[in-house]
Amino acid sequence: MRLTVIGTGYLGAVHAACMAEIGHEVLGVDTDAGKIEALAAGRAPFFEPGLPEILARNTEAGRLRFSTSLKEAADFADLHFVCVGTPQRPDSLAADLSHVEAVFDGLAPLLTRDSLIVGKSTVPVGTTRLLSRRVAARVRPGVEAQVAWNPEFLREGFAVQDTLRPDRLVVGSAAPHADQLLRTVYEPMLRAGVAYVGTDPATAELVKVAANSFLATKISFINAMAEVCDASGADVVTLADALGHDERIGRRFLSAGLGFGGGCLPKDIRAFLARAEELQVGEAVSFLHQIDGINDRQRRRTVDLARHLVGGWFAGRRVAVLGATFKPDSDDVRDSPALAVTADVVAEGAHVRVHDPQGLDNARTALPGPEYCTDVMAACRDADLVLHLTEWRQYRALDPAELAAVVRAPRVLDARNALDRAAWHAAGWHVRALGRPAHV
Ligand code: UGA
Repeated sequence: MRLTVIGTGYLGAVHAACMAEIGHEVLGVDTDAGKIEALAAGRAPFFEPGLPEILARNTEAGRLRFSTSLKEAADFADLHFVCVGTPQRPDSLAADLSHVEAVFDGLAPLLTRDSLIVGKSTVPVGTTRLLSRRVAARVRPGVEAQVAWNPEFLREGFAVQDTLRPDRLVVGSAAPHADQLLRTVYEPMLRAGVAYVGTDPATAELVKVAANSFLATKISFINAMAEVCDASGADVVTLADALGHDERIGRRFLSAGLGFGGGCLPKDIRAFLARAEELQVGEAVSFLHQIDGINDRQRRRTVDLARHLVGGWFAGRRVAVLGATFKPDSDDVRDSPALAVTADVVAEGAHVRVHDPQGLDNARTALPGPEYCTDVMAACRDADLVLHLTEWRQYRALDPAELAAVVRAPRVLDARNALDRAAWHAAGWHVRALGRPAHV
């Protein structure tokens, strides 16, 4: 099939490449000429394992092309996926829909044939209905354009596999042929047994925000338990393991620590709160304020514990930070808990060196102030404290004895509960974590 993907940021670039990978002819469109140039040359403009390979393979095969022209998109296909961002508005908790609206408003008058426009961005419930009206008011006479919503559930770092083998496909549409068309698009996935949920647009929009709200709730729940563990001498990791054996609960997303960040979970729960207020059901989801609050508190708890570990104040202390991205296997530092903690420690006067395997360029732009190091040993040299803030595999593989030899004091705060405490302790380290008794 021929299709376009409009918006080639994180979601769109992956979707376009994966749609080509399963055999479709794809045109990716974005207003950012630099991004389009990189993608057309088969280069991913961000770090995502597996993406460069499928980009290169499909651009070389001619199944995947890129353009900056919406007109070209309208001419190329009559199925369009919209993947532009919906960031938090600067003045409120709500989502900024201006990019989504600009694409729908811009595309509609350019359509010359009956078309289906499928939104994939995360939007407030009710958006498809509003966009359908905008599109109907802008198409040329005689042209019919339907709107459907097909939310995306991919995780950064696993984006390619999540797109090619999702847990489920959700399609919300009031147009009868949309369902059939999307079943054809996703036929290889359906053949492989992926569940397909066909529903109305409001339910489809809500599935996405409900899923992210649930995941955020799970993380904040275990982080709340971590605070209780700290107060009572219990161990949150063993607690999570034991809870996880109950299949109704499950172990995933029960890793206690610095909490959630990134471009999705934090802004999605806030946008949901804003939308629920508009729908007069703010009270029903008001617990999400607490989920957000518990999450923020982990950042403060980490800074407090770090300050305590270096003797009560940061001024004159040297702190090594391991990890800047919001999670491993990503170069994304948007709302990164690691960078938020780093910013506070810098602001309190510590001399901070930061290492990250992939996120240094983005971190440097987001937070000037600390020294950024490409070498872990260099970051840790003469440190009074090592802060482990993002659980990259590389940090778990460090030799604690080798590291102990370069620091000024072998103290580590493992804010992700991911290091092998026994090994670090055996190598002479004073090991602290969130929600676990001190290992002294
Ligand atoms: C999240 C969802 O997992 C995806 O399903 C969704 O499609 C995506 O948002 C989106 O809306 O686009 P992502 O932001 O890539 O994906 O990252 P996650 O793997 O969900 O991690 C989010 C944050 O939670 C990270 O900061 C991570 O460190 C933290 N986390 C995760 C924990 O603190 N504890 C856990 O147990 C799990």
